[in-house]
Amino acid sequence: MTGDHYFTAEPTAAAAPREVEFSVAGRDWTLASAAGVFSADRLDPGTTVLLRKADLPTAATTGALLDLGCGFGPIACVLATSAPATTVWAVDVNERARGLTAANAARVGVADRVRVAAPDDVPPEVTFAQLWSNPPIRIGKAELHALLLRWLPRLAPDGVGWLVVARHLGGDSLQRWLVEQGWRVERHASQKGYRVLRVTR
Ligand SMILES: C[S@@+](CC[C@H](N)C(=O)[O-])C[C@H]1O[C@@H](n2cnc3c(N)ncnc32)[C@H](O)[C@@H]1O
Repeated sequence: MTGDHYFTAEPTAAAAPREVEFSVAGRDWTLASAAGVFSADRLDPGTTVLLRKADLPTAATTGALLDLGCGFGPIACVLATSAPATTVWAVDVNERARGLTAANAARVGVADRVRVAAPDDVPPEVTFAQLWSNPPIRIGKAELHALLLRWLPRLAPDGVGWLVVARHLGGDSLQRWLVEQGWRVERHASQKGYRVLRVTR
């Protein structure tokens, strides 16, 4: 046993490499994973709902996209593959997660357009056409709010944020809170207890 959480900066548990297989965006994916990262053994059901229900970027999408809290990188890999004219910033506090995301981006052939970074290493001038996140609810409400208040304002004026949150973990109250902060929030989809929220200015 260790005291690691999935959002530990430097997990101490042995990495125990493994692979995660899933199907989204019309293709099958096999990505590398390891102990000490979020949902290490399968694509998280919330992430699955997000990637199947939100409007994925396309060949026509340009600019920078953000995968906030990338874990082993499933969202970043799907975004970069779906939208070959974009650059995807994959951000996580967990060093092991960042290493896996970089390896997975190389594995699916998009390493040249996926920038894996710790939060403080994203250049301040970068703004995002889209923000995608299965956010880290377990860090606590105050920290989660601070995280969203840090990154949502970096959306371009016409940018779109896509969030997935389990209803039982506060998806509906998060939607209300975002509206109170002045964001427009639409419940784009609801499936298997998960809310997919579309956030705009
Ligand atoms: C719910 S997991 C989602 C991981 C991955 N996107 C997926 O779908 O499997 C949230 C991620 O946010 C990361 N995280 C926690 N606090 C963070 C912070 N302050 N900034 C960026 N990422 C953070 C965690 O380490 C974790 O990998």
